[in-house]
Amino acid sequence: MKLLIINGPNLNLLGKRETSIYGSVTFEAFLTQLHLKYPEDKITYFQSNCEGEIINQLHQQAKEVDGVVLNAGAYTHTSLAIADAIKAIDTPVVEVHISNVHKREQVRHHSFLSSVCCGVILGFGLDSYRLAIEALKGLKF
Ligand code: DQA
Repeated sequence: MKLLIINGPNLNLLGKRETSIYGSVTFEAFLTQLHLKYPEDKITYFQSNCEGEIINQLHQQAKEVDGVVLNAGAYTHTSLAIADAIKAIDTPVVEVHISNVHKREQVRHHSFLSSVCCGVILGFGLDSYRLAIEALKGLKF
């Protein structure tokens, strides 16, 4: 399978940022583990702190892959534009969060993306991404 992982704002700082919530592993190190675990799959990665770049990636790259794993970071809670972009494409998108946003501040409880994604996985640390890949692998195409 071809899969695309998209990380949104501040997730370039994983491993350094609020380590009590997000852990001390960089995404690059985690991605190496994912590539080793799924050698038969092509897993590409894109990170941006800019909403428009995430939307462009959904428009342009998502059609080249079988599924998208999206952690839109704080844009999850604000971005109708990213929700519209997900609606505009046929590729299945799984919403992912490292932390359990429902145990955190009220403002993080609402997601603009959940209703337009095929599913949501949250609260399992970086393993949320692996679980999302497993979910995409289980989808019938
Ligand atoms: C996050 C949760 C968001 O509320 C937050 O803004 C992030 C990371 C997570 O992975 O737990 O940047 O998406």
